[in-house]
Amino acid sequence: MKKHGILIKVEGCLMNIVDIINKKRKKEILTKEEIDFVIKNYVAKEIPDYQMSALLMAITLNGMTEEETVYLTSAMLHSGKTMNLSSIPGIKVDKHSTGGVGDKTTLILAPIVAACGIPVAKMSGRGLGFTGGTIDKLESIPGFQTNLSFPEFIKNIETIGISVASGNEQLVPADKMMYALRDVTGTVESIPLIASSIMSKKLASGADAFVIDVKVGNGALMKTKEDAETLAKLMIHIGKKHQKKVVCILTNMDEPLGCAIGNSLEVEESLNVLKGNGPKDITELVIYLAIHMVRLGKNISFNEAKKEVQQVLTSGQAVQKFEEFIRMQKGDLSKIEISKNVISIKSKTSGVISKIDTEKLGEIARKLGAGRYQKDDVIDSTVGLKIFKKVGEFVVEAEELVQVFVGQKDISIEEILSCFTIQEHFVEPNPLVLETFSDL
Ligand code: URA
Repeated sequence: MKKHGILIKVEGCLMNIVDIINKKRKKEILTKEEIDFVIKNYVAKEIPDYQMSALLMAITLNGMTEEETVYLTSAMLHSGKTMNLSSIPGIKVDKHSTGGVGDKTTLILAPIVAACGIPVAKMSGRGLGFTGGTIDKLESIPGFQTNLSFPEFIKNIETIGISVASGNEQLVPADKMMYALRDVTGTVESIPLIASSIMSKKLASGADAFVIDVKVGNGALMKTKEDAETLAKLMIHIGKKHQKKVVCILTNMDEPLGCAIGNSLEVEESLNVLKGNGPKDITELVIYLAIHMVRLGKNISFNEAKKEVQQVLTSGQAVQKFEEFIRMQKGDLSKIEISKNVISIKSKTSGVISKIDTEKLGEIARKLGAGRYQKDDVIDSTVGLKIFKKVGEFVVEAEELVQVFVGQKDISIEEILSCFTIQEHFVEPNPLVLETFSDL
């Protein structure tokens, strides 16, 4: 019978999507069977988008308990393939960031951690946002191959300890379908939906432990520290229920991370960080995240891990690992292209930078061609922005504030200048690392 959608018999009861939507609308708690039913039948296209949208909105408005969120995560996790990394010896540690403007941490962290002897097996995605995802950034290196078969991916890890590949399309199909729907139905900003989306993908990646960078601020999904803390604690709980260790680090996203926004520019900045010449904020953050990954991967203390991370950076082993990794996947760093059409934007006043509208800067980068509006848009990896002043820094009139690397699209200088608030008095920037949560 298909009146309001499919009916199936679970434990002697007929289940229907309309009843489940109504239950959540009335703030009732869904059972594991109901959640499994929804995910299984949505992925099978038996439940249409309009009913799933209604349920997602009911969840966004009325929330989910921790237990419901754990069930949702498991149902999503089992909607597709999961990676089996058991052939790679050692504790595998993966990293995730909830995303922000100028966030290129994976490119820097992966070689640092691999140089410390922790295997890095990373399936990443293309971005649908301000700038590309990790795969888009790596593909801005001419020749770089991301489309590896699973045996190639594993062989690279066995040979040099690191591989980053695309192909996470087969992992957690439920998340891909749900995220696309959430994006257009006003249901992205739901803590249980975000937690289950992130954790289902992390659990499917096959790693044993996770370090999650939860961004907080005007350029992030989590605008307040309270919401970020709730999300962090929920993800740690989900990890525990799946016998995985999770460390969540809340970090400031009230200004872009580092100075570069745009794919090739971000690769260049990553290399500078590895060589010890990068911006202070991203260097500090990457070191902090790396210490946590090494600590988890080797079961050692924070201070022991810190020594190892500093050693691979100062000895040049981390930058060598990055170059080895790029060569292994057939990229040629010497051929990286950055637009030669550079527009220099200068400050109209003197003072201290008190605020940067990070989200707006990200939008400008996307308009330039550094990011996508739709899944199939082609990114221009040569374009982007370089920021010369961060919050708390002094700028004098006519001093360079931003360089814009332009491609085919026009820019508005006024719009870029409007992203910077300049005031007379000194401003203390927010600390970069706000808080660290774990249940270790
Ligand atoms: N990142 C994800 O992977 N999923 C969300 O829902 C939000 C941010």
